[in-house]
Amino acid sequence: MIYKTPLFEVPLYKFKASKHAEIKQWMLDTVCPEFEKNGPNEPSRNLYSSYFPGAPKLDNGLFSNFYAKDIGSFLDKAGFSKFHQWQTKLNFWYNLSLEGSYQEVHDHLGGPIPISYAAVHYVMFDKTEHVSTVFYNPLESILKSLQPTTTDQFRPNDFRGFQKVLDVEEGDIIIFPSYVPHSVMTQISKKLRITVSFNISVYEKSAYE
Ligand SMILES: [Fe+2]
Repeated sequence: MIYKTPLFEVPLYKFKASKHAEIKQWMLDTVCPEFEKNGPNEPSRNLYSSYFPGAPKLDNGLFSNFYAKDIGSFLDKAGFSKFHQWQTKLNFWYNLSLEGSYQEVHDHLGGPIPISYAAVHYVMFDKTEHVSTVFYNPLESILKSLQPTTTDQFRPNDFRGFQKVLDVEEGDIIIFPSYVPHSVMTQISKKLRITVSFNISVYEKSAYE
């Protein structure tokens, strides 16, 4: 008998946002009227996003409070000891997308303080109409450089499965390492899709002092 097992894992955490209803209401009351008034600030992709110029930024303090409990639970689950002094920096933005919106493959690596994790909260998401985030194996370029064939039909198992689409629903938060490439496929639906994304930098309190 030959056993096969993965050697290492790429972690992904998924859970319900504890303040989902409050955050959704805040977005509907505060951001949606601005979007209705001004239209997309990234017209080429039919997107209204505070990641790009022309849409108001989110208040980092307010959103840190919204997600404080969830981030605490996540850090606990990820093995960040409560008995050590961790410093956490968060950076939030929103994406309101309509038909034709998409996001190319990217990761969230960046400095000067390294971004440890990236997160997405599906604030307004209809799983019968909207598509979730697509993830790409971080080893893809290495594996493709070693592939024994370019013919899919003959490709052995160890050289397959470079992409994964997560099953998510409204209210879910996903958190994953910042180095994992991901994208959003072109939206077919005319129905508004809203996400709040954030970067999490977490490091020893003394590391940058
Ligand atoms: Fe992203």
